Amino acid sequence: MTDFIDLKLSKPILRAITEEGYKTPSPIQAGTIPSLLEGEDVLGIAQTGTGKTAAFALPLLHKLAEAQHKAVSKKPFAVILAPTRELAGQIGENIQDYARYVPLRTKVVFGGTSIRPQIQALFRGIHILVATPGRLLDLMNQGHCDLSNVQTFILDEADRMLDMGFIHDIRKISAAIPKKRQTVLFSATMPATVKGLADGLLRDPVTVEVAPQATTAEKVDQQLMYVDQGDKRALLDHLFKDSEMEKVIIFTRTKHRADRVTRNLNQAGITAAAIHGNKAQNARQRALKAFAAGEIRALVATDVAARGIDVDGITHVINFELPNEADSYIHRIGRTARANATGIAIAFCCEEERAYLKDIEKIIRQSIPMVEDHPFHAADVANATSKPVRPVQGGRGGRGRGTPKGGSGGRNSGGKRHTGQRPKSGGENANTGAGKPKKNKWRKKPGNKAANKTGSKPGGNRSGGRPNSGSKSRASH
Ligand SMILES: Nc1ncnc2c1ncn2[C@@H]1O[C@H](COP(=O)(O)OP(=O)(O)OP(=O)(O)O)[C@@H](O)[C@H]1O
Ligand SMILES: [Mg+2]
Repeated sequence: MTDFIDLKLSKPILRAITEEGYKTPSPIQAGTIPSLLEGEDVLGIAQTGTGKTAAFALPLLHKLAEAQHKAVSKKPFAVILAPTRELAGQIGENIQDYARYVPLRTKVVFGGTSIRPQIQALFRGIHILVATPGRLLDLMNQGHCDLSNVQTFILDEADRMLDMGFIHDIRKISAAIPKKRQTVLFSATMPATVKGLADGLLRDPVTVEVAPQATTAEKVDQQLMYVDQGDKRALLDHLFKDSEMEKVIIFTRTKHRADRVTRNLNQAGITAAAIHGNKAQNARQRALKAFAAGEIRALVATDVAARGIDVDGITHVINFELPNEADSYIHRIGRTARANATGIAIAFCCEEERAYLKDIEKIIRQSIPMVEDHPFHAADVANATSKPVRPVQGGRGGRGRGTPKGGSGGRNSGGKRHTGQRPKSGGENANTGAGKPKKNKWRKKPGNKAANKTGSKPGGNRSGGRPNSGSKSRASH
């Protein structure tokens, strides 16, 4: 029933998204844009690849364009934070695309690149600042950026931004923004362990949950291969014999292992590049660009590329090593099967990783179908009946984060709740055939209405003391 036109976005924005090929709003867009346009605080939860970026960006552009503020030196009107440089860059590019016909200035700032052009752009004045927290704080501390004009504060990958790796930075940034503002949080995951912090940032928020947090993308065909650690390389080479493995992202837990896997692939004649936190920023960007352009067949990454990265047509995600943070699995496999496309995610699991697998299957509320039809099947691992033993913490991928494990994620804390479409149960993921992913943008499906608004009252084991007056339930139209 909802069309972009019903969402009352202004003509220049509609024109830009039509040119992007967007015909129908995705459920998270239809569910959150009206509240965002009204200036409400919003917590938006929806699976990977379902258009959360446009969900927060379009209403922001609409409101700023209507307000017709002149850009003020050093004082942006909106701040969007993201956990990685590549994701900040991508959000900036999306905004440039959506803002093609509105006179708004956006700047992306992150570390690892020269700060001078960032200082100059801020000095000239911008409307929207997209940033990683560290560089933003540097700019603020050096007196080049002042957040006292900020009206909208957006955290993409909000649970990541609120975990131990970032929370101190976020607190400082948040304190520099006026209290009277709109705060917007989006993610595909929101474990109970950080949900409380999210509640603390939001004022009487509208919660839109298209699917329960930690729901995997619908159209990923997930597969599990038990394999001994020492056979993983051979199994990977074996899989690459399949010509349908066209555009493959491979995740490892450590930077070192990412480099090793890349070297091995190159030796086997498979074009590959690595992306991780020890690489120079220009090498990171080069690798991602070559991968996106199809110049290399494989990108080998740590979790620095797990969240938010939107590369068209990734056919396969390989978890060469399972993540020790279960949430990360959801984000990793979400690099494929985006915007209604399909894709395949293969998880390698050796004896030492059985505990990680258990955590993952618990939070995704499904078991990953095992494929034993491969030459390196480790039957002893598959049939193990002993209790999985958690490896001594040695994995140090990405940025050290010490988030406690998230359990299955509490879903009933404060705020108004718009409960929408429930996730499809795992059934359709069970086939193991390696069908080629298809691109298929959102179509209207009967019964696939955006966030049915039940406006249920907060269950609230914690309301953070906020006068969270019952359901301000948004009538759906
Ligand atoms: N309404 C729409 N119609 C068609 N395509 C869309 C629409 N909205 C977004 N897209 C496309 O869908 C893809 C995924 O969008 P986006 O990166 O915003 O997903 P996301 O929900 O933020 O995923 P993640 O959780 O992985 O960050 C992008 O290529 C985007 O251009
Ligand atoms: Mg995103």
